[in-house]
Amino acid sequence: MKQESQNKREGFSSSIGVIAAVLGSAVGLGNIWKFPYVTGANGGAAFILVYLVCLALVGLPVMLSEHLIGRATKSNAVGAFKKLQPRRPWFLVGGAGVISAFLIMAFYTTVVGWVYAYIFKSASGALLTNKPQQTTQVFNSLISGVAEPLFWQVLVLIVIGIIIMAGVTKGIERVTKFLMPMLFILLVIIDIRSLSLPGASSGLAFLFKPDFSKITVSAILAALGLAFFKLSVGMGAMITYGSYVDKQENLPKMAVKVALSDTLVSLMAGIAIFPAVFAFGFEPKAGPPLLFIIIPTVFNSMPLGRIFMVLFFLLTAFAATGAMLSLLEVPIAYFTEEYQWSRRKATLITIVGIGLLGSTATLSNSVLSNVLIFGKTFFDFFDFATSNVLLPLGGIFIALFAGWQWGYANVKREMTNEGQLRNEGLFKVYIVLVRYLVPIAIAIILLTGLNIIHI
Ligand code: PFF
Repeated sequence: MKQESQNKREGFSSSIGVIAAVLGSAVGLGNIWKFPYVTGANGGAAFILVYLVCLALVGLPVMLSEHLIGRATKSNAVGAFKKLQPRRPWFLVGGAGVISAFLIMAFYTTVVGWVYAYIFKSASGALLTNKPQQTTQVFNSLISGVAEPLFWQVLVLIVIGIIIMAGVTKGIERVTKFLMPMLFILLVIIDIRSLSLPGASSGLAFLFKPDFSKITVSAILAALGLAFFKLSVGMGAMITYGSYVDKQENLPKMAVKVALSDTLVSLMAGIAIFPAVFAFGFEPKAGPPLLFIIIPTVFNSMPLGRIFMVLFFLLTAFAATGAMLSLLEVPIAYFTEEYQWSRRKATLITIVGIGLLGSTATLSNSVLSNVLIFGKTFFDFFDFATSNVLLPLGGIFIALFAGWQWGYANVKREMTNEGQLRNEGLFKVYIVLVRYLVPIAIAIILLTGLNIIHI
């Protein structure tokens, strides 16, 4: 029975399917919610340049390491380390990844729940106002409710659960292959709309004209953290997806394609948002409420705004779907392979677990607002514990594993597809990065994020 289930291990069925799924994981709330406000808060274009450097030198090598580990072992995040180092506790890195997946899903589904609610609110006309005070009120009343935000969160979990249950090929691959082009088309439509507004050029200048005086140490740290969250690295999601990738695939090339396309989506989201924000005289540094308070006000100030607002929240929901599928697949692959649970049982138990944990994040703005862990609400704690602690720690260990533990020849064999690819030069650069630069750079973010060192 065990033999049979191993023989039938699923995988992505084509190169396009691989790109769609991996890009689907990278693209998410990070591009549309985090990227614009972090860019806005750190001075625009100069920050983007720093972000690109962090992406290339830190994010990409960790992503590639995860793909290599996953494809070499054809195993889930925990099983992969057990196969490569059966006698050492490296599998704990995978275990931390499974826990991270639960914690990220807990707060991510809260925000995606708000996005679902906003699709309906924009369509129904509940957001038809161009006064920020009123959109603030709509947002506050949604997030401080009990039944309403919980309802949306549960709906999000049901939708994702149904897709995951359908499997890797028929669920994840099929859905992301549809969503990624849709997302791109919607972004192009909204970008054209935004760029055709009078005064759009100041928004473009904000995004693309670099001002290096804005580059502070804290901006560099923000860029590094964002690159990490953006590429979905540090928690085994890319190990899990790597395990579904064919031996013929050129992994370094794929990682570069994904990172470039993901950045393109972030920039297109910035182009959708900033020209419109400037055209209507709003502040770009609006912070996290940019998406739920400023955006509706901006859309309502333009002709046909209601339609564009529905499209905008729809595309945000599409983007978040691929990211959530990859988060969920981490525990699903772990439970089905390490405990031989059926996919159905693993999905149901995981969804219920995330629902219970996630409800505490959702209720952080209402009944649980006074319950604090280390001085933070559940929502903030889950976000902080993953972005500032677990993902960076995971990234360090994954880089150290690939650089020092797995074995130079083994890593090289996997990266060159058993010598078929002529990429030895690239391999040498990669090894230096994962051995030295990546662990040191991440350790600095981690220690600074935890206020252990101050720069
Ligand atoms: N990359 C996703 C985003 O930018 O929204 C977030 C994410 C997805 C992080 C999957 C981690 C992960 F495993």
